[in-house]
Amino acid sequence: MKRIKLSKTLTLPEIVHGMWRLIDWKWSFNETLEFIESAVNIGITAFDHADIYGNYECEKEFGKAMSMKPELRNKIQLITKCGIKLVSDKYPECRTGHYDTSKKHIISSVEKSLINLKTDYIDLLLIHRPDHLMNPDEIADAFSHLLKQGKVLNFGVSNFLPSQLQLIQSRFSEKLVANQLEISPAHLEHLNNGNLNFLLKENIIPMAWSPLGGGSIFTPRTENAGNLKRKLEEIALQLNAENIDTVIYSWLFAHPSGIIPVVGSGKIERLKTAVEATDVKLNRQQWYEILIASQGHPVP
Ligand SMILES: NC(=O)c1ccc[n+]([C@@H]2O[C@H](COP(=O)([O-])OP(=O)(O)OC[C@H]3O[C@@H](n4cnc5c(N)ncnc54)[C@H](OP(=O)(O)O)[C@@H]3O)[C@@H](O)[C@H]2O)c1
Repeated sequence: MKRIKLSKTLTLPEIVHGMWRLIDWKWSFNETLEFIESAVNIGITAFDHADIYGNYECEKEFGKAMSMKPELRNKIQLITKCGIKLVSDKYPECRTGHYDTSKKHIISSVEKSLINLKTDYIDLLLIHRPDHLMNPDEIADAFSHLLKQGKVLNFGVSNFLPSQLQLIQSRFSEKLVANQLEISPAHLEHLNNGNLNFLLKENIIPMAWSPLGGGSIFTPRTENAGNLKRKLEEIALQLNAENIDTVIYSWLFAHPSGIIPVVGSGKIERLKTAVEATDVKLNRQQWYEILIASQGHPVP
């Protein structure tokens, strides 16, 4: 698998693993460690987290598993996010879910993530969602402070539109290296709104969250979704691919912006399928057939 250079201090594999569902898998620390090592062995060395995942528990589980093999740390890249405050028994003072991108919250969230992940640096920190009250000077100040302290090596955003990303970039001297967006054949928003074109122009990497639609592509609930699944199956046959995951990943890889899927499966076999898909090429007609099946109408 190829690796993609995002900055002097960050190179990511073409596929990142997402840890959002880690608590649901109910693994022992040994099982978590085994999964991390198996992913690393097939080239998936980067793991995506957020402070809030698993009601603020996922980072801790991952950190405890990793601490059984500390030598793994310099072989992997850790991505985490901050900026969302959940209603949670962990934080009873938070009565309403909201966003907080104040300098104080960003720094304290990262400090907790470092403790939970049992590491002294984060490779890439993302602001999880655009905050209506975000002040770019404060965010840039928080980023600069964390960078100077060596606590975070690279910065980016998630679910941001181009104008929102540019707002933060206008006050921060280092380049923002990634924008993590919902992108899949079932979610075309960022293909249609110019966001992917903007990221390509600026050489900022798009990471695709829920690349398989969070699993929903496999169990369609609408007529359009059913048509999309049938089209993916038809193209899987043409490509001699065993399943439609391969087609979905190769559809994402075909975009010139260099999309990195954040794969959310807890099954190593399914991660292998994603890795194999890096060698599968769709032709333009196949690519557009998938787009058309998803949107439910031909291109004009
Ligand atoms: N930035 C953001 O706002 C944001 C939002 C959401 C998620 N994320 C990140 O993106 C990552 C991936 O999201 P995701 O988990 O929704 O991604 P996904 O890869 O689209 O979906 C994973 C789900 O699909 C299931 N699945 C995979 N292959 C399948 C198949 N062949 N048949 C049926 N089900 C299948 C998986 O089940 P198995 O485990 O059984 O394979 C899992 O439940 C998250 O872990 C998180 O890191 C970020």
